[in-house]
Amino acid sequence: MLDDGLKSLMALHGVGDTRSRGILIVDDERPNLTVLRNFLEAGYKVHEATSGRDALEIAKNNDLDVVITDQRMPEMTGVELLEQLRLLKPDVAGIVLTGFTDPPALISAINRARVFRFLKKPWQPDDILEAVRQASEHVYQARAIQRLVALLARRTQELDASLEQIKSTQRHLLHMERLGTMGRLAAGVIHDLRNLMISLGYVESVLQQGEIAADVRESVQVGMQGVNNLIQTLEAMHQFARGGSLTLDRQLLPPSAVIKDAVAIARMDLNYRMHKVELRVAEDLPCVMGDRQKLCQVMLNLVRNALQATAQWRRVGIEASRMDGKIILAVEDEGPGVPPQLRESLFQPFATGKGDGMGMGLYMAKLIVDSHQGEIAVLDRPQGGARFEIRLAIAN
Ligand SMILES: Nc1ncnc2c1ncn2[C@@H]1O[C@H](COP(=O)(O)OP(=O)(O)OP(=O)(O)O)[C@@H](O)[C@H]1O
Ligand SMILES: [Mg+2]
Repeated sequence: MLDDGLKSLMALHGVGDTRSRGILIVDDERPNLTVLRNFLEAGYKVHEATSGRDALEIAKNNDLDVVITDQRMPEMTGVELLEQLRLLKPDVAGIVLTGFTDPPALISAINRARVFRFLKKPWQPDDILEAVRQASEHVYQARAIQRLVALLARRTQELDASLEQIKSTQRHLLHMERLGTMGRLAAGVIHDLRNLMISLGYVESVLQQGEIAADVRESVQVGMQGVNNLIQTLEAMHQFARGGSLTLDRQLLPPSAVIKDAVAIARMDLNYRMHKVELRVAEDLPCVMGDRQKLCQVMLNLVRNALQATAQWRRVGIEASRMDGKIILAVEDEGPGVPPQLRESLFQPFATGKGDGMGMGLYMAKLIVDSHQGEIAVLDRPQGGARFEIRLAIAN
């Protein structure tokens, strides 16, 4: 009888009867098969074979619970048959009918072939029926346990996956909530900055009219450009916080144009001129479908970071190239590389390793690159320093 605990587990998890009621009887003497069939047929679906080879063939093509086999057969003994059957159908129980007793040989056979029972000849039908009943009970139980284990393992996996999904939704909600706050803040700051720009525009126009030193005029221009960039960043943040995505103004765009724009703005910064900036733009690069202003903002953020990380007069490289069917925009430097403790959160908002950093530059960069269905990654250069790389699809 099945254990009660097992029964209730089976009911709980919807595991039904695992028996097929198929029995295979194997004997090289046909009359013996007929006798066996006669009293088994009432309760089981009986298959017959007159050799080990035939028996294996039948076992391959039919559902079986129990195999009853004579031990002494030409070519293959009963134990040898069960040994092979075990590889084919490990959950079928074997009963061996044997006319001689040789305990050591039998014990080793039991171990190798996992014989469920030996019955000595001459046997009584009742002995066989009882052995078959016990064997099929055993098979029933073993299969039920196996199914339950597989089922529970799958459910555990499903539960783990659901839990992970819930956690990620929760993280996302939290993130969106923070973004919402940031977006509202950004809207306020944008408003004030636009007012500031009006005043700065006026100052600039006055300066244009008077005799004024070139470096003063340049400082005002750099300042205005800085404020403009700030406004653009904040506008993008505000837009993202409101809609969960950035609106892109996409056009066919040569990669060299993005580099040109970014360099034109970056060089207004004194820090740019205090480094050896090397431009490597491959010729005749195909276009990408991109938002010119936003991609320029990404490159600008990367160039600024590189300049800030690199000692004066050292090299910063800006590159546009083509690799593996993608356009690569990259900025590399000779600085110390990205601090290990920042690696994980590098592209998250407010992740900064600088005393006065906002930790928004790379976050915005990733947001923009993601919106272009591109990729952004940081690599360690073998000779030291960091390399930030953007991969964008070529426009068709
Ligand atoms: N080229 C680089 N080399 C070394 N560390 C870098 C480099 N670029 C970024 N980092 C690290 O990643 C941090 C995050 O950069 P991110 O541009 O997002 O913010 P930030 O530069 O600190 O502030 P901001 O919002 O003004 O850009 C930096 O503070 C710095 O610690
Ligand atoms: Mg930065």
